[in-house]
Amino acid sequence: MIISDRMQNMQSSPIRKLIPYAQEAEKKGITVFRLNIGQPDIATPKAFLEAIRNYDNDVIAYAHSQGIPPMLESLVRYYKKFDIPLETEDLIVTTGGSEALIFAMMTIANPGDEVIIPEPFYANYNSFATLAGLTVKPVTLKAETGFHFPSVEEIEEKITDKTRAFIIANPSNPTGTVYTKEEVDMITDLAIKHDIMIIADEVYREFVYDGEKYVSFMHRDDALQNVILVDSISKRFSNCGARIGAIGSKNKDVMTNVMKLAQARLSVATLEQVGAAAIVDAPDYDEFMQEAYDEYKLRRDTVYNGLKNIKGVVAEQPKGAFYNVAKLPVDDAEKFIIWLLENFNIDNETILMAPAEGFYATPGLGKNEVRFSYCIKSEELERSMKILEKALEAYPGRTEVE
Ligand SMILES: Cc1ncc(COP(=O)(O)O)c(C=O)c1O
Repeated sequence: MIISDRMQNMQSSPIRKLIPYAQEAEKKGITVFRLNIGQPDIATPKAFLEAIRNYDNDVIAYAHSQGIPPMLESLVRYYKKFDIPLETEDLIVTTGGSEALIFAMMTIANPGDEVIIPEPFYANYNSFATLAGLTVKPVTLKAETGFHFPSVEEIEEKITDKTRAFIIANPSNPTGTVYTKEEVDMITDLAIKHDIMIIADEVYREFVYDGEKYVSFMHRDDALQNVILVDSISKRFSNCGARIGAIGSKNKDVMTNVMKLAQARLSVATLEQVGAAAIVDAPDYDEFMQEAYDEYKLRRDTVYNGLKNIKGVVAEQPKGAFYNVAKLPVDDAEKFIIWLLENFNIDNETILMAPAEGFYATPGLGKNEVRFSYCIKSEELERSMKILEKALEAYPGRTEVE
């Protein structure tokens, strides 16, 4: 037996790999605040569960490969709120945004082709690119500039005759950066000029703070043939376990070929589509979204206010999503996180963060950075920041950030 090169080359999830250390701490009776994972704790909209409870059919049959019509129609109504011009025929329901990403990469590139991704990036992009045999060409973003794009020249020099797509999360996981209209236009212009696609991962579109504006890559009429939208209800509707996402494009060639993959995997879970289709039209939809928004904004402020008062930590106030990447005054963030879980607590409480190195494609980058996800309550985040501050004072591998 062999294990394929493909799998041997695939990285483990940097978000999940330190969980065993957290479990060990928990066995010792320590509470571990999990700042590592983007699993919202906000209650899923009631309409989702009600629709599933009311499902009245003796057979849970396969759904259409494209998705059940009510789900597709509810997506179209949802996109209208954001001026995204997708109609049902432009959409396929997927098993989370994850499957949409795999479908997109498999459809528009051959093994050996390249995709350009700003780093740090959502680590599973790497795994999906490995699956599709693609080489990731990173454009490095810096904490000091709020993880915004460098000059157009710096990005354009990454484009070769093998480049097939940009993959961009906006707002970004892990940095929380919201790209400006100028940045979205810059990437769009490059995509048109070089005839490459944009895989636009916009699963955090509602979480944009401080009056910043979410600009979709689908807002440019002249670029619609170059854009594939990747979407998911996991984050916006606090519904990660439903595994409902979507892929959408005005490019018929793309969607016709994505459909072959959708047919091969038969369908997405029927009941979860029934539930998800009911969310957007529920009477308390706006209230739900407002409450979720206010809660994430409060948490973002709590984390940032905590971080900015810790000596040696470099962090910007993120403008979107529910993440933050910070530079810590440590020799190695992963070592620090493990040390923390094994050796440090305040009143039997400690924290688990995600080492940011796994979010970079360039070796060595992010070694002293961590990603925070703020999916726990604000009071716990406040205590978490205190734990971080005191742990940094006690950590034997402390350095100064240059
Ligand atoms: C930027 C981004 N895209 C896609 C996903 C995939 O999510 P899901 O498969 O749950 O829709 C995630 C999950 O964290 C994400 O952060």
